[in-house]
Amino acid sequence: MKRIVLSALVLVCIASCYYDKYYAIHPPLTTSTGCDTTNIKYSGQVQTVLNTYCISCHSTSNAANLGGGYVMDTYGDARHQAPLALNAMKGIGVPNPMPKGTAGLYFTDSCSYNVIKLWISKNYPQ
Ligand code: HEC
Repeated sequence: MKRIVLSALVLVCIASCYYDKYYAIHPPLTTSTGCDTTNIKYSGQVQTVLNTYCISCHSTSNAANLGGGYVMDTYGDARHQAPLALNAMKGIGVPNPMPKGTAGLYFTDSCSYNVIKLWISKNYPQ
């Protein structure tokens, strides 16, 4: 039992060291839109981030032509896509980092990225 606890601790340490290094190698470039992370909610910061970076392609009317069919302009759709969207903003496990045509939102506006991350972790407040 002790051994299991110890290996779990070691794993957590390794994971967090990697995480720290990642941020040291890829520092946030700018902090701009929707960066108020207090009282995070869809109708506030989340919608601002999505409207700024994503909705031009991922609205109900444009998604079929410009956004690969992925719609994100309602609370329900945004919530449904959020975990995948978070990965897409870092280019993890998707064909192209999002917003499409960029290296990924995380690398240019980590604050907006963190808004979405926090929204998920708070269980999608409306
Ligand atoms: C210029 C248009 C455009 C913008 C802006 C854009 N997307 Fe996309 N998105 C696409 C297209 C097209 C696809 C279909 C897959 C592909 O072509 O890479 C897609 C696919 C996706 C997918 C599905 C997974 C995948 O990669 O196939 C997610 C999630 C996604 N986008 C999230 C976002 C988020 C979040 C933003 C804003 C930060 C965003 N997109 C901004 C065009 C865009």
